[in-house]
Amino acid sequence: MSTSGTNHTVTIKDSATGKETVLPVMHGTAGAPVIDIRSLYKDMGLFTYDPGYTATGSCQSKVTYIDGDNGILQYRGYPIEQLAEHSNYMEVCYLLMNGELPNAAQYKTFEHTITNHTMVHDQLVNFFRGFRRDAHPMAILCGVVGALSAFYHDSTDIDDPHHRMVASHRLIAKMPTIAAMAHKYSIGQPFMYPKNNLGYAANFLHMCHAVPAEEYKVNPVVAKALDLIFILHADHEQNAGTSTVRLAGSTGANPFACIAAGCAALWGPSHGGANEEVLKMLTEIGTKDRVPDMVKRAKDPDDPFRLFGFGHRVYKNFDPRAKVIQKAAHDMLEELGLHDPLMEVALELERVALEDEYFIKRRLYPNVDFYSGFMLKAMGFPVPMFTALFAIGRTVGWISQWNELIEDPSQKINRPRQLYNGVIDRNYVPMSQR
Ligand code: SDX
Repeated sequence: MSTSGTNHTVTIKDSATGKETVLPVMHGTAGAPVIDIRSLYKDMGLFTYDPGYTATGSCQSKVTYIDGDNGILQYRGYPIEQLAEHSNYMEVCYLLMNGELPNAAQYKTFEHTITNHTMVHDQLVNFFRGFRRDAHPMAILCGVVGALSAFYHDSTDIDDPHHRMVASHRLIAKMPTIAAMAHKYSIGQPFMYPKNNLGYAANFLHMCHAVPAEEYKVNPVVAKALDLIFILHADHEQNAGTSTVRLAGSTGANPFACIAAGCAALWGPSHGGANEEVLKMLTEIGTKDRVPDMVKRAKDPDDPFRLFGFGHRVYKNFDPRAKVIQKAAHDMLEELGLHDPLMEVALELERVALEDEYFIKRRLYPNVDFYSGFMLKAMGFPVPMFTALFAIGRTVGWISQWNELIEDPSQKINRPRQLYNGVIDRNYVPMSQR
């Protein structure tokens, strides 16, 4: 991929050896420039050290841009606020995958393609029979999504652009079906097949909440709110889940295995699992008067408890998605005539935290997970399903970034190094002498 920008350089001098090297600085179209350190070890015999990759660029990308200090998020250059207001998830999927908004004909073809990939191979049902009924939906997603590579051999050749496109469409289309099956399995109800006359979000609601015994009418308010949630979760630069997909993809693994790896990383409570933990945390707090105690615990360095839904590696300002979701949650609950007492607890928790020096100093603000749970709960999803819904929305981001990786000639197998500080050069000691 070409890099834009000037011939800017940095010079590194090693005070221990006197060696020095001049490293190029690469400028993108926006955001922080990067020091190209690919020659550092050869020139200086030095590695860089950045646990958690807090200051490390792993790739060049044109998919999503985030400005954490200013709370900016753009998919292919379009601000998330505009997409949330004017677009829909199918259009955002096309945009993320192709780099441009579709015209009417392109949109129609894309939506038709996705709709006609929503069914899964009927033998896949057998996988579900092997799980306990109380298996976590993300455990099922990790297993069943990885198993897709055992069924769709005609779209696993990563060097074939047609295979990559078919696999991408299959993953976007089948993730809701698999997640809905996980939900149905957990409540002992029969699986509901997708219906081709329903939109993406409406189809998922149907597969989760319809039963064979009677007609199910999708509430358009809920379908639109769910579509918005999918838009807001669609992609987010090189987060932990996406970096996992890219790392797996860099080995040449097939796309189904890579997305299953993304599901596994997303499940963590510090990442996509946070939306589930937020609801558990708010339920544990219970009432507004208990908020100060919880905030005190979150600030205590000796207490591992953190406020779920707060803080972000990149956003040191409001997560722009949190602002959109907070309003959407409020509007949806009002439109449906619902009142969730935990919303009061959340608003109080936000108020107290945002006025507290600890959070202000560390620039900790509500993130996308802080309010999404209210909407998902009001939509009738059990809390363990929340991260599976995050995975549905994020699949298009994962697969768009995976395609970009495969098409990037500068990419190679990801293989970080380390600072070794263990013991070396020991001789084996026979058991009798230990
Ligand atoms: C997502 O990367 C992405 O883009 C992710 C995501 C996406 O769309 O893919 O946006 C989705 O994962 C959102 C984040 C969801 N996770 C949570 O809500 C879990 C709670 N948040 C924290 O675990 C934490 O804020 C992280 C994991 C999100 C970010 O952690 P960092 O960047 O490693 O920050 P840190 O741990 O270095 O924290 C800096 C300081 C520390 O205090 P000090 O050591 O400086 O005294 O802030 C404190 C932390 O203890 N801190 C918190 C806190 N988050 C950070 N203290 C209390 N409560 C919190 N939530």
